Amino acid sequence: MKDTVLLTGAAHGIGRATALELARKGHPLALIDRDSRALDALVDDLTRSGAKVAGAVVDVRDRDALVTQVAELADRVGPIDVLLACAGIGSLTLVPQLETSDLKHTLEVNLVGVAHSIEAVLPGMIARGRGHLIGVASMAGYRGFPWMISYSASKAALIAYLEALRPGLSRRGISITTVCPGFVRTRMCSEIPYQHKVRMIEPEAAARHLARAVERRPRNCVFPWDMKISLTILKYMPDFAFDALMRLAGPRALHVDF
Ligand SMILES: NC(=O)c1ccc[n+]([C@@H]2O[C@H](COP(=O)([O-])OP(=O)(O)OC[C@H]3O[C@@H](n4cnc5c(N)ncnc54)[C@H](OP(=O)(O)O)[C@@H]3O)[C@@H](O)[C@H]2O)c1
Repeated sequence: MKDTVLLTGAAHGIGRATALELARKGHPLALIDRDSRALDALVDDLTRSGAKVAGAVVDVRDRDALVTQVAELADRVGPIDVLLACAGIGSLTLVPQLETSDLKHTLEVNLVGVAHSIEAVLPGMIARGRGHLIGVASMAGYRGFPWMISYSASKAALIAYLEALRPGLSRRGISITTVCPGFVRTRMCSEIPYQHKVRMIEPEAAARHLARAVERRPRNCVFPWDMKISLTILKYMPDFAFDALMRLAGPRALHVDF
């Protein structure tokens, strides 16, 4: 019997591709997104292909609606074994346009939205003594990227939140995976005006990594392989070298002035 997966941000990009991959592997699915048209179309397609699936239109910022809808979805597809929190937003934040409203909005979705999703599934997982929480972070959470200030802050907070939860939840039979994808060809990534060609993987490739993470429960899931090298270099790079790199490489990387 395959684990039942609750997937947020399921209607587009990495989330949509992962829903298709998990359904292909036989996982019952509870899907959440705020785009009702795209979500309904996905649920219809998956149902026609024989998958056990149910969807609900919810904004992950709305804690009460999310808790209610997740309970209803679990009644339809079964108790949630795995949360894959993929819903996220990301856009340029540059010094000339710095606004706390942008920071608050990004934190509400990328951090608090994930925390709401965890809150919706955690009591059931604790009662059953098993479960798996997967949060989709980013390389921008490991170091501060000067063209995505709010996004970097939100993903850094998410990485720390998941890390801080890990020991207390592992004692209760619940594993946590922090995901760090490289560049994936989705709407979010395509909106960033990189000057040079950036090597992107397709959402379907990202989905295969995420589906493997659902089954193997690693602590970290970093892909593709060259992202592992970049992440290690960035994590251990001395601060002065990182600052200099961003000052020099930043303006060359983008069509914008930060
Ligand atoms: N693409 C990359 O290169 C990349 C790299 C590293 C990490 N990531 C992370 O991967 C995750 C998925 O990104 P993606 O590239 O697949 O982006 P995407 O194509 O924009 O898909 C994001 C999905 O999340 C949904 N969503 C956004 N805010 C939501 C909310 N408040 N409540 C419910 N659903 C919401 C979106 O719905 P709407 O259509 O209504 O907006 C959309 O369906 C994000 O967490 C992102 O930070 C992406």
